[in-house]
Amino acid sequence: MKFVVRGGKKLRGEIEVKGAKNSALKAQAASLLFETPVEIGNLPQIEDVSRMNELLTDIGVQAEVRGERGLRLHAASVRRTELNKDIAERLRASIVLAGPLLVRAGRAVFPHPGGCVIGKRPIDAFLDGWKSFGAKIKEGAGFYEIKASSLRGTDFTFRKVSVTGTETLMMTAALARGKTILRNTACEPEIPSLAEFLNRSGAHIKGAGTPVVEIEGTGGKLLRASGAFTVIPDRIEAGSLLVLAAALGSKVAITHCNPEHLSVLISTLRDIGVPLETGPDRVSVREPRTLESIDMQTREYPGFPTDLQAPFAVLMTQAQGQSMIFETVFDGRLNYIEELNRMGARIVMCDPHRILVHGPTALQGREVESPDLRAGLAFVIAALVARGESHIKNVYQIDRGYEKIDERLRKLGADIERIA
Ligand code: UD1
Repeated sequence: MKFVVRGGKKLRGEIEVKGAKNSALKAQAASLLFETPVEIGNLPQIEDVSRMNELLTDIGVQAEVRGERGLRLHAASVRRTELNKDIAERLRASIVLAGPLLVRAGRAVFPHPGGCVIGKRPIDAFLDGWKSFGAKIKEGAGFYEIKASSLRGTDFTFRKVSVTGTETLMMTAALARGKTILRNTACEPEIPSLAEFLNRSGAHIKGAGTPVVEIEGTGGKLLRASGAFTVIPDRIEAGSLLVLAAALGSKVAITHCNPEHLSVLISTLRDIGVPLETGPDRVSVREPRTLESIDMQTREYPGFPTDLQAPFAVLMTQAQGQSMIFETVFDGRLNYIEELNRMGARIVMCDPHRILVHGPTALQGREVESPDLRAGLAFVIAALVARGESHIKNVYQIDRGYEKIDERLRKLGADIERIA
């Protein structure tokens, strides 16, 4: 499957942001902590959500799709404690399932999780975390087995801030025995959203969304859902659409989003000359006169999101002057620049974490292959900016996290087709 894009057209209109992949997947995994069914709403229709459902049903969770964006998950019992290898290897967030599975069933077996190939993406924080709850870990050829008859609360410090690490250990602690303190935790908005739902359903979590989270475990007592979980708007999708509109000099309104979750991007865009107006759940972009260059670095929330780094680099190819982009969160997340340079960008790799983007440059349509989900969308943006026709291969990577992005962009006037 590939996208064929004919670029150079301005876009116009309104586009609605869907539910966040990184919120939905965690709520799906959390269903294992419940004795009652869990209702999830505003679910994005993306490949990663389907893969997570496949993992859950494979271990015995009943999954029932309800309407267009609803899902009901019931983990009445757990049939298996081994995650399906083929699926887990395709999905980084599969590891998030291991925490609830361990605390629910006393055992979790899983392969090294897949997903975007960004550096090695180690899982040491998860393993060290579970050990400190008292779990035993066995590492075999290509799999991990985590076992614990009972998990006791702990005081654990993350050496490096980890989003899924925080969520996974927070869910493990929710049903463990006694008090857990997690330190140097991630603050991404998906985390307090998950904690709020768990608390509403009988968990005791304080400080989610701050660097220290305290959890009083229920001692194995399962949670009982109180109301539905509503997936929060995808701040990465919203941010990418803002960057796209700015790069194309287009008048576009991005709706159903939370501008508070995008404050660093919004202020950066304003600094480079993009006129923006924000409302409670929308951001409108007007045509910039000229775009100025800027230096920026990615940071954990509330800093500039690493997931917007590649789209932002594409935008900077259209700005006047040199922009330094410093990727501080992941190794190997600048692996898309060669393809962009083949499209006519002038980007120089300074060291493994920093690039210098010289602008403005006229981009030309080319055949490119998406290396991962976020760079994949950056290529869509580059192709829409470029003159001529681009072919973007490996669309599965983009479908993993962005719902029917081709159809939705077409409604704004983009010339993009999906071809088998
Ligand atoms: C999550 C998001 C992803 C986003 C990232 C950073 C999900 C499903 N994915 O990924 O979209 O790009 O946060 O905002 O929510 N690290 C270790 N050891 C570990 C775990 C992580 O060294 O055990 C390192 C990573 O290699 C990376 C850094 O910590 O350098 C941050 O990664 P992390 O926050 O864990 O990313 P994910 O949770 O996988």
